[in-house]
Amino acid sequence: MSLHPALLLKERYRLCWWVVFALLCVPAATLGWAAWQEALGPNPLERLERDTGRWALICLALALAITPARRALSFLMVVLRSPDGKRLSDWNALVRMRRMVGLVAFAYGAAHVLVYLELDVGWDGAALADAFREKPYILAGLAAFAALLPLAATSTDFAMRKLGRYWKRLHRLTYFAACAGCLHFVWLSKPGVLEPYPYVALILLLLAYRVILRLRPGFHPGRDGGDEVPERPSQVKRPESEELVTVRPPEPSPEKESIA
Ligand code: HEM
Repeated sequence: MSLHPALLLKERYRLCWWVVFALLCVPAATLGWAAWQEALGPNPLERLERDTGRWALICLALALAITPARRALSFLMVVLRSPDGKRLSDWNALVRMRRMVGLVAFAYGAAHVLVYLELDVGWDGAALADAFREKPYILAGLAAFAALLPLAATSTDFAMRKLGRYWKRLHRLTYFAACAGCLHFVWLSKPGVLEPYPYVALILLLLAYRVILRLRPGFHPGRDGGDEVPERPSQVKRPESEELVTVRPPEPSPEKESIA
């Protein structure tokens, strides 16, 4: 078994998928264990709200970072003169993991909202209406969660096939959800508290990358938009149910494409 990350991802995709999934579940398991042990600290509600909210935002940023990370990794492999991993298609497995990362973000967001509704306002409509009036940052959180709902609902292969090219357009809502989540975080923080800004900077950077790429001459919506890139004919495998099948003309030569 090769230890090169690109080959490891390709040849041991299922194993890598489970490793990434397990790692993303560690914060939830830690929080669940602390709650079970009644060791959430002096303010358990605050701890639950903070951790679930932050992990929702972190997983959203991770999902958005996959497209630039794939490009950066193939570029790095060219610079390092690595025998593998120089083509974008060598990192297709990362794109296939994006759906799972997005769904984990949704799960943290849903847990965050449930903690709020159950432990903070106790499903009381009047208390919720008061919260909307007195804490307008809640509205930004609601907008972020409302954007995550259709993304999670259309994450199946069936929805992908039914929506066709509209699926990709709809899934640009991820950027809106991330921006609304950041606004929510900045708004609820006391003036002078700098904690939200690393998250804001990261999301803005990812958004800027996307805008710059779109404005660049020679922009290719599939390759640059983060779709899987077809492998060379000899390497094409039967598509698995996880894969988004894209039919495109053959790739340019590895050297040309990997530095595109
Ligand atoms: C209906 C939707 C939502 C409601 C009602 C809500 C409510 C809250 C509340 C009450 C807090 C704690 C405020 C405090 O400490 O005083 C909070 C914090 C937070 N929420 Fe939300 N939220 C919502 C959706 C979201 C979503 C979708 C995200 C992420 C994308 C998010 C990310 C955060 C973050 C990052 C924090 C701050 C955590 C910290 O202080 O470390 N929220 N939210």
